[in-house]
Amino acid sequence: MLYQKGVKHMYDNGIEHVPSKYILPAAERPNVNSEKNGSPDELNLNLPIIDFAELQGPNRAQVLKSLAYACENYGFFQLVNHGIPEEIISNMVNVSKRFFEMPFSEREKYMSADMSSPVRYGTSFNQTNDGVFCWRDFLKLVCHPLSDVLPHWPSSPFDFRQLVVSYAKETKLLFMLLVEAILESLGLKNRENKTEGVNDDDVDDDDILKELEDDGSQLMVMNCYPPCPQPDLTLGMPPHSDYGFLTLLLQDQVKGLQIQHQHNWVTVQPIPGSFVVNVGDHLEIFSNGRYKSVLHRVLVNSMNYRISVASLHSLPFTSTVRPSDKLITDTNPRRYKDTDFASFLDYIKSCDSKKKNFLESRK
Ligand code: SIN
Ligand code: FE2
Repeated sequence: MLYQKGVKHMYDNGIEHVPSKYILPAAERPNVNSEKNGSPDELNLNLPIIDFAELQGPNRAQVLKSLAYACENYGFFQLVNHGIPEEIISNMVNVSKRFFEMPFSEREKYMSADMSSPVRYGTSFNQTNDGVFCWRDFLKLVCHPLSDVLPHWPSSPFDFRQLVVSYAKETKLLFMLLVEAILESLGLKNRENKTEGVNDDDVDDDDILKELEDDGSQLMVMNCYPPCPQPDLTLGMPPHSDYGFLTLLLQDQVKGLQIQHQHNWVTVQPIPGSFVVNVGDHLEIFSNGRYKSVLHRVLVNSMNYRISVASLHSLPFTSTVRPSDKLITDTNPRRYKDTDFASFLDYIKSCDSKKKNFLESRK
């Protein structure tokens, strides 16, 4: 089947119509809410912006409030002034482009149906399960523990490993600093007490920090969305939420990411060099529902290639995710069952793409 080789291969071969395998039922097509609510341009969204440099300075308390507001009301924010050198960011986007530009025979070596493989090249969302395919090719890399997985990563382009390692290390450090801020914004941690080392109440939350730092999983997903001849009939990624704690997404200047906000699909405006950060299912559960893991999807277009790189951070696959004891109160009782990674995988296997929200089954 031609489509098993992915959309880049089809596009390179001059495909003029979207094969039926990619055509969504009318109700799931991307323009569905613009028909109801006017032109798609009205539905652009300026996500809350969090200035990371400001978060590290004297205005921290104020920025933490904005962070809490964004996580409660959008489940997403744009992170600017994050401090990762521009060169590391542009190298990452660039090497992803170069990977997808290699001949199919080179990319094909990394195709695998094994979800736990340290490297997996593929197409659509879940190639073996999806009834309708989506217009996306991807490369997934497990990034932890690095010394075990690195020998499995692609060795071409020649600088691939070196550039992705630098980027993965920087995003992990940034993620850890964001988790600290998130715990603080939830009232679970106080930076000053931590430096003085006097607050015994922090122990549980330091546990989660330590668990994420030492054993947390990091997955890097490079996405390639070639131009699509009929972008109104298909999607680059179906509606889904991310299962982990936080995702740090780098997108190039081509828009495509949409999030569900106040019952509409709205397009996130790219800010060059910034990260789109979103709350994942683990964090929604940990925060006992205060922070929201929001559905999102990707549109494609007929003109431009789009590249994005998602760095997904979650608790170790062996751990159980549960609401923080301190966020369960008489007025906000426990809202989620304990969750382990195995039940997440069972859930994924049981549905066509990840269209339903995993969290609904955890309540
Ligand atoms: C993207 O915007 O291309 C990716 C979004 C995602 O990983 O969910
Ligand atoms: Fe996602």
